[in-house]
Amino acid sequence: VGRGPVVTVDGPAGAGKSTVARKMAERLGFLYLDSGAMYRALALKALQHGIDLRDESQLADLLKSTTIDLIGNGQGQPSVWLDGEDVTTLLRTPEVNASVSLVAGFPLVREEMVRRQRAMAREGRVVMDGRDIGTYVLPDADLKFYLTASLEARARRRLNDLVALGFHPNLETLGEEIRHRDTLDAAREVGPLRQAEDAILIDTTDMEVDRVVDMMLEYYRQRVS
Ligand code: CDP
Ligand code: CDP
Repeated sequence: VGRGPVVTVDGPAGAGKSTVARKMAERLGFLYLDSGAMYRALALKALQHGIDLRDESQLADLLKSTTIDLIGNGQGQPSVWLDGEDVTTLLRTPEVNASVSLVAGFPLVREEMVRRQRAMAREGRVVMDGRDIGTYVLPDADLKFYLTASLEARARRRLNDLVALGFHPNLETLGEEIRHRDTLDAAREVGPLRQAEDAILIDTTDMEVDRVVDMMLEYYRQRVS
């Protein structure tokens, strides 16, 4: 019995992964799975419980007793549930941004996250985005993308997102935060941020969201369906 198609989208922060992955899933009628949200949810819980973020075994134990559900109705923003509570709006705070790469750097944490991510993708008909999805989590995916954009474009996008929420962050500071997180994500030994050899590279610096999605769907038609 074959599984349905699997599409992966990796790349650095602010490249537009979650936006285009969600839209692509919507257009295909697939499930959208945001692997970053799972690391963010664990970071949030560790912060809430005052756990030492440098303590790998404590974090791994915490994760074992934690349920994380990614719930999408196929339209609009999917929600993230932590131990049965909707935490969607709590995952993108400066505190979580500053802690998530640390939490995600531990092998014991990644091992368990990857196990869960593979289970979620087992039936196929999914688009999953993250850092190591095409290289490590789902290496046999049917179609892989690696999205990138200039640091300035990515910082500007984050700025616009935050301004829309009523914040007034500094562009340079945002750029520094993103650069720092990218460095940590690319440098770690397990599941580093890296383009898979068979991933299609798309530089979205000067591209509108819908053009990126159309391009990805065109690849899908050519290579998968
Ligand atoms: O949206 P943004 O690109 O800023 O981040 P995200 O996709 O929500 O991921 C947040 C963080 O989780 C990343 O900076 C990584 O440290 C970690 N992550 C990871 O290690 N592996 C993944 N597959 C996805 C995210
Ligand atoms: O998930 P990731 O961190 O890679 O990025 P995102 O959160 O999907 O995208 C950040 C912002 O950039 C969103 O507001 C997108 O609408 C915007 N974006 C864009 O302006 N142009 C693109 N080609 C892609 C995303």
